[in-house]
Amino acid sequence: VIQMKDLDLKGKRVLIRQDLNVPLQDGEITSDVRIQASLPTIKAAVDAGAKVMLMSHLGRPTEGEYADEFSLKPVAARLTKLLGKEVGLVKNWQEGVAVAEGEVVLLENVRFNVGEKKDDETLAKAYAALCDVFVMDAFGTAHRAQASTHGVAKFAPVACAGPLLSGELSALEKALANPARPMVAVVGGSKVSTKLTVLDALSKIVDVMVVGGGISNTFVAAAGNEVGNSLYEKDLIPEAQRLCAETEVIYAHDVRVTKEGFSDWNHNSVTEVKVPADIQADEEIIDYGPETAQKVAAILKDAKTIIWNGPCGVFEFDAFAKGTEVVARAIAESEGFSIAGGGDTLAAIDKFGLADGVSYISTGGGAFLEYVEGKPLPAVVMLEERAKG
Ligand code: 3PG
Repeated sequence: VIQMKDLDLKGKRVLIRQDLNVPLQDGEITSDVRIQASLPTIKAAVDAGAKVMLMSHLGRPTEGEYADEFSLKPVAARLTKLLGKEVGLVKNWQEGVAVAEGEVVLLENVRFNVGEKKDDETLAKAYAALCDVFVMDAFGTAHRAQASTHGVAKFAPVACAGPLLSGELSALEKALANPARPMVAVVGGSKVSTKLTVLDALSKIVDVMVVGGGISNTFVAAAGNEVGNSLYEKDLIPEAQRLCAETEVIYAHDVRVTKEGFSDWNHNSVTEVKVPADIQADEEIIDYGPETAQKVAAILKDAKTIIWNGPCGVFEFDAFAKGTEVVARAIAESEGFSIAGGGDTLAAIDKFGLADGVSYISTGGGAFLEYVEGKPLPAVVMLEERAKG
């Protein structure tokens, strides 16, 4: 794959696909992690004297319809602030974009364009016509074969990988291709069904698999326990049993439960620690118990490679956050190489202020999981094809 850093960008029209799909609440950006992560690439292009055009999607709007709530307006404003230079938002780019050397503009949400999601060739060629060099830097969207990620890379005069995309791929390769051992995966979240392919793929390479959250509940049930009111998937019990037979799986052996219903959950919710055998019908598991959390922390302490996706409990509420916090802290304190990905995982790292301790924090959610599953990322495959000539 051609790298952006190896090209002479002076005076060139450079179109960079970023993943600036940030969470918004009432029009305010609630986490700018993805914008921050894209800054080094933008600065490098500016310093090289390129005419910089950025593009990204935001959310999942209806194609062909402009909607204010999906506008990249707040993102352009944040970029302006962080770069210390005006980043204009361009709605009508079809006839060409006026941008001077060292300047930066942002094209409006690519998902407003008809044909974006189905990787339409006409649209891809229209993007390609804007530039001399296309830079694919959106790791978080590299699993989507869409006009702004895959199609444009096919038709642009030159297509290369940006530093963020390349950095993400090297970190993942370091963790997965030839990991230092022992290697431990922590896979949390609510459902086995959405993570089954990831669990399967990781079970073949890790030394220990730690499961948390609702996923752990299914393993607790698979071991023959009643789990009361807890979230779990009965029909995936055979899969859980199979995984346990194939690899060393750690799940909760003590749990934190609550009797409170979902709508009453709060930072001071009343909880109790129990062994699974004592769980009552009206109780719900919402976190690891302290012994499980300590056991997992001890395993992580000696790990040389750690891959983490998904929380171990409902960490959004302080009353249910201890398990995730102990595990997150152990990952951050471990001397091994640690990589974390996924929206909830990043939110947990943020909540506990542990970003400095994790070796690599991926900007990818779905893309991170698909890479771990061993699936090819279509946008990266296209760059590889272009590099072959
Ligand atoms: C993400 O947030 O995972 C990426 O930006 C991709 O978004 P999508 O799932 O809407 O394609």
